Amino acid sequence: MIETILNRKSVRKYLDKEIEDEKVQTLLKAGMAAPSGKDIRPWELVVVTERSVLSAMAEGLPYAKMLNEAPLAIVVCGDIEKSPYWYLDCSAVTQNILLAAEALGLGAVWTATYPYEERMQVAKEQLALPDKIFSLCVIPIGYPATPYKPREKFDPKKVHYNRW
Ligand SMILES: Cc1cc2nc3c(=O)[nH]c(=O)nc-3n(C[C@H](O)[C@H](O)[C@H](O)COP(=O)(O)O)c2cc1C
Repeated sequence: MIETILNRKSVRKYLDKEIEDEKVQTLLKAGMAAPSGKDIRPWELVVVTERSVLSAMAEGLPYAKMLNEAPLAIVVCGDIEKSPYWYLDCSAVTQNILLAAEALGLGAVWTATYPYEERMQVAKEQLALPDKIFSLCVIPIGYPATPYKPREKFDPKKVHYNRW
C-alpha cells in the first residue's frame, strides 16, 4: 500500500488497449471507499468509453488533450444539493481512483474541471449532467505507453513538530 502511494504519478500517454471490466469495477469501488463528511457520499461517477465523447471533452478541456488517446475516463462528480463539501469528498474519491489505477498497473491523471465554469460546462454538456451535479475532474485512464517515474517530493523543511 505504501509502495502504491509513493509510486503514484500522473500518466498522460496510453497504449491503444482496453481496460478490463473487472479493473474498471475495482477503480469504481476504490473511489467509493473514500471518506466523506457526515458519510453523505455526495459523489456520482460517470464512466466514459465512447470515443466521440472522449474526443469532445479533449476538444473542450484545455489541459486534458490526453483524452484523445485514453480508452476510458472516469468523471468524478458531486451532488451539490447533498453536501456543500461535495468537492472535498470527491477529491478523496479521485485520489483513491488514482491510487487504485497505480496498484492495477494502469496510468491516470487528475484533470480539473472544478472550479472553472467553462470546463464544468463542457462536462455538463457532454455527459448530460443534471443541474445539481457538478463535475470535479475528469480522470483519463489507460495502460501507460512508457515507463513513468514518480517525482521525489518529500521535503523535511515542510514538516513542523509541535509548533511552527
Ligand atoms: C486539483 C488538480 C488539478 C489538476 N489538473 C490537471 C489538468 O487539468 N491537466 C493535467 O494534465 N494535470 C492536472 N493535474 C495533475 C498535476 O499536474 C500533477 O499531479 C502534478 O504535476 C504532480 O505530478 P504527479 O501527479 O506526477 O506527482 C491536476 C492535479 C490536481 C491535484
